[in-house]
Amino acid sequence: MAHSLSGRLLLLTILYVLASTALIFLPAMGIEERDILGDHILSAELSILPFTTPNQDWPDDLRQNLLKHADADEVLLRRRYQRDYFQIGAPHSKIDRTIDLRRERLWRDTLNAMDCLFNGGARTLYVIAPSSIKDASSISIILSEAPVRAELMTYARRVMVAAVFISALTGALVFASLYYFAVRPIRRITGAIGQFHENPEDASRILVATARADEIGLAERELAAMQRDLYGFLRQKQRLAAVGAAVSRIQHDLRNILANAQLASDRLAASEDPEVKKLALRLVTTIDRAIVLATTTLKYGRTQDLPPCPSEFCLKALIEEAATAAMDGRTDIAVSFANRVEDALVVRADRDQLFRVVLNLVKNACEALHGTGAITVTAAHGSGAIAVDIADTGLGMSDIMRAKLFQPFVSAGRPGGSGLGLAIARDLTRGHGGDLALVSTGPNGTVFRITLPV
Ligand SMILES: Nc1ncnc2c1ncn2[C@@H]1O[C@H](COP(=O)(O)OP(=O)(O)OP(=O)(O)O)[C@@H](O)[C@H]1O
Ligand SMILES: [Mg+2]
Repeated sequence: MAHSLSGRLLLLTILYVLASTALIFLPAMGIEERDILGDHILSAELSILPFTTPNQDWPDDLRQNLLKHADADEVLLRRRYQRDYFQIGAPHSKIDRTIDLRRERLWRDTLNAMDCLFNGGARTLYVIAPSSIKDASSISIILSEAPVRAELMTYARRVMVAAVFISALTGALVFASLYYFAVRPIRRITGAIGQFHENPEDASRILVATARADEIGLAERELAAMQRDLYGFLRQKQRLAAVGAAVSRIQHDLRNILANAQLASDRLAASEDPEVKKLALRLVTTIDRAIVLATTTLKYGRTQDLPPCPSEFCLKALIEEAATAAMDGRTDIAVSFANRVEDALVVRADRDQLFRVVLNLVKNACEALHGTGAITVTAAHGSGAIAVDIADTGLGMSDIMRAKLFQPFVSAGRPGGSGLGLAIARDLTRGHGGDLALVSTGPNGTVFRITLPV
């Protein structure tokens, strides 16, 4: 519960509401204590007021009766030329706290109130405040803290009860609305993801998006669209797999038929008749190409490359090996090969797979050179990736070829090319989390780039 979204939400809501209640409660106590003391000052002023007019003699018992309502034990009025002292209750021998009400400071009042609530009780207070009595500059009262604290306590209790009630209500409302508007729909989405994950081929598990206009509605619609796409791709893949299996069977039989034809054409090539011999030779090469095409297609259909099994090795050496293999046996060509990769550059990848990638690219470059030109391989460290460029000085490729470059079975130029080299090479680099891309192509040459994450 504490780890679920709703559990955390509940905890946070309670915490925040309590924090905001405390923020209101503390200053409210400060203001209340000031008010209570203000009331005491007012009572004191009212009860001493009759005795501040000159030349009036008051009978003792009347004086005592009036002063009784002063709500203080001693009162001192400071006037321009004199000070009036009124002793009402028992005199206090010592003052524990002095509170000055002449200047209003909320934080001071708050601290005073907290001090009274937590430390107060049996202390004696000396309170000084501005006076509204004519000619008086200030009035001070001395009183015990106990009644002040009792009043403050009553008020605090009332505020507390109200605050707890309000917090509970706000907390419940905030939680309920967040739960209704956010948590519940998110749960619905995560539930839908889990269900779809169990069986993505079941169309009934695709999320039915609601008509909400907010972010959650958007997430629902995007998720539903993604699930529909994925479902479509899976169906398409199933159908393609079926077609592929059929093609594989046909290719397999075709290869056997072609092998028979090859035997016959070999015998024809042995004929004495020069015309027959010439035709037979053409037949042999054509059948050879057909066999190669049938075999590679079969292989591609069956291949399921394993996930890369990475190891660390020197990139330069690997490129050297792959280039040698790519140009192996081609003595008819004058191609210069420059391996400009740093000696010390070590990469982490599946060596066999990277070998196949480089082999395909160098082979293609070699074929594009038609006998003469240069192939250069360079490598550069980027941010978090290594880029290996394979550049040739061939004539480049047409726009049509470029548009379909990495699609399987797309080939131009070389007779007998299966058009699988680049498709496989790209699959392998992407399997590494990298990519294979055409950087540039034109009459001055072509550059392909392998990127590998470091
Ligand atoms: N460096 C290059 N310069 C010019 N064209 C290129 C280059 N590399 C590839 N191409 C073009 O892209 C096509 C596809 O290349 P890809 O390697 O996929 O197939 P392929 O070489 O025809 O056959 P194979 O499967 O035997 O490699 C090539 O036929 C060629 O026309
Ligand atoms: Mg190729």
